[in-house]
Amino acid sequence: MSTSIESVLQENRVFNPSPEFMAQANVSGMDAYKALCAEAEADYEGYWGRLAREHIVWKQPFSTVLDESGAPFYKWFPDGKLNVSYNCLDKNVEAGLGDKVAIIFEADKGEVTKVTYSELLSKVAKFANALKNLGVKKGDRVVIYLPMSVEGVVAMQACARIGATHSVVFGGFSAQSLRDRIEDAGAVLIITADEQCRGGKNIPLKPAVDEALTLGGTDSIRNVIVYKRTGGPAVMVEGRDLWWDDVVAGQSDVCEPEWVEAEHPLFLLYTSGSTGKPKGVQHSTGGYLLHAVLTMKWTFDLKPDDVFWCTADIGWVTGHTYITYGPLACGGTEIVFEGVPTFPDAGRFWRMIQDHKVNIFYTAPTAIRSLIKAADGNPDVAHPKNFDLTSLRVLGSVGEPINPEAWMWYHEHIGGGRCPVMDTFWQTETGGHVITPLPGVTPLVPGSCTLPFPGIMVSVVDEAGHDVEWGKGGFLVIKRPWPSMIRTIWNDPERFKKSYFPEDLGGKLYLAGDGAVRDATTGYFTIMGRIDDVLNVSGHRMGTMEIESALVSHPLVAEAAVVGKPHDIKGEAIVAYVVLKRARPVGDEAKQIVNELRNHVGHEIGPIAKPDEIRFGDNLPKTRSGKIMRRLLRTLAKGEEITSDVSTLENPHILEQLKEVVK
Ligand code: PRX
Repeated sequence: MSTSIESVLQENRVFNPSPEFMAQANVSGMDAYKALCAEAEADYEGYWGRLAREHIVWKQPFSTVLDESGAPFYKWFPDGKLNVSYNCLDKNVEAGLGDKVAIIFEADKGEVTKVTYSELLSKVAKFANALKNLGVKKGDRVVIYLPMSVEGVVAMQACARIGATHSVVFGGFSAQSLRDRIEDAGAVLIITADEQCRGGKNIPLKPAVDEALTLGGTDSIRNVIVYKRTGGPAVMVEGRDLWWDDVVAGQSDVCEPEWVEAEHPLFLLYTSGSTGKPKGVQHSTGGYLLHAVLTMKWTFDLKPDDVFWCTADIGWVTGHTYITYGPLACGGTEIVFEGVPTFPDAGRFWRMIQDHKVNIFYTAPTAIRSLIKAADGNPDVAHPKNFDLTSLRVLGSVGEPINPEAWMWYHEHIGGGRCPVMDTFWQTETGGHVITPLPGVTPLVPGSCTLPFPGIMVSVVDEAGHDVEWGKGGFLVIKRPWPSMIRTIWNDPERFKKSYFPEDLGGKLYLAGDGAVRDATTGYFTIMGRIDDVLNVSGHRMGTMEIESALVSHPLVAEAAVVGKPHDIKGEAIVAYVVLKRARPVGDEAKQIVNELRNHVGHEIGPIAKPDEIRFGDNLPKTRSGKIMRRLLRTLAKGEEITSDVSTLENPHILEQLKEVVK
């Protein structure tokens, strides 16, 4: 079911914005869109400078918009000073929104808690003071390993308030992954919870922190703050571990924001690349905040009375930009949801939209596809027709290509045929949307993320970095720096240059790592998937090399190769080809080793990286020079016949063995 380029190019359904929508839209009509693009084209710095002055409160105004002297290490608004937490909280309270609900938190089991802007400011200030009290200073790194919670947002905002750089680690990552990130970031403190609640179960979280801190390389950590979510068992290490409530008790609810330079690193977020360990994507303060605000207002058409719901986890970039920062910086009301879409039943999302009168809903194609299946399987409970979804005005999709079938279902059954669907293309590195429709502007074509966000100079180029004609595929690039772009890879500026500004494309183009094609007549973009060895499994980015390294670290494994194969719910599934140090296992033994290896990968990286399928061979298909033929492995994974000539392989007979999937 994954998007095939043919199906999108042949797509002839077009959905124009309705006159009613256009009449109220923040950006209304194609002329308005073109005017913004033309403004950026004519005076790039003037355009971004104007927006930065209009949409952000600066403590000290900037005089320079863009400093390109250190390219590709660009600086935006370098002499300006601001504070993100001020822009998200104090600004709104000062504007009279103190009693407005900032966060509607719905817990896994359904309890609802509302937090106003004044209350949120007070919580953030107290927690920020607690961090300061523990010696956390501007520029220190703080690792956050928390479930979806008000406390997660508070922890991130508190770091921003005192100028500490947070590095959120998704709660589904293992102790080993957590350790790697702590060490690379050189973090001084970890904020975690005793347990997390998902799908009606309490899942311990603190033990992973304890384990991570025994694995070595984490001496920089002085303290662990533990938020008591369930009161379940948690071992507290004397002198190191502190309860959230205890560190906050007695703290003042006034905390002067640390006014930082626009380039000050707001956060690191680790993400997978094609080689090596995950990279710490470093984001700025000013440019990042600007794009978070602009995309909330333009892509989602956020209005003061809207209820916005982004279903992502704060462990991913979508949760950073569209939960912790964007909605609050616009003074919006948002939902923070602790649970999963299938508990207590697969109508959960639709019931929550109904109960909270959600106006803007942002989720991932993988969730939509699994809920389509659930709705079909259990129409009396899980089908959206059982719920009143008329509050919805705008829908969004993110993380992977949305196939036209899923797009249509989302549009019809969730959006009632009336809500525009924003297929937003972006990445951890881009900070916010870079190619996306605008709901009051763009005629929508299912399966296409349509046109660049105004001011983002996106293009498709060939191997030499030259633009390709519309209708021809190539590499997706961004031709000019933009405010919310990645600043560097933490601890590895060389890798930053090599990965994103490769010399063979001339060293000046930002290489996104995706293939793309523009429609020959409309110029609409369609993303064709990664051009590197990065998989997208349920919208989660996974490096094949990382999974291979995890497999090879098991004592039984001699060699492993990992590829993706299309999966109708997850988008891509992980297929691992494994050579053991002993004879190729069969029957029950093979099954037992598959279980062992899957658990091992879960332990090394996290459950999201467990291979869906493992196949054993005496060897991997290799050329005479020893290169693994991944292309053939991908063909086999799809269950397709190999039609190309394999006579140049060192070991063509291996292919037969590798057809066999251990069930
Ligand atoms: O391959 C693209 C895919 O997700 C990658 C970025 O993953 P990550 O950094 O984890 O960020 C995900 C959330 C922004 C991209 O390189 N991707 C993301 N959005 C889309 C997409 N592919 C197609 N269409 C999208 N709308």
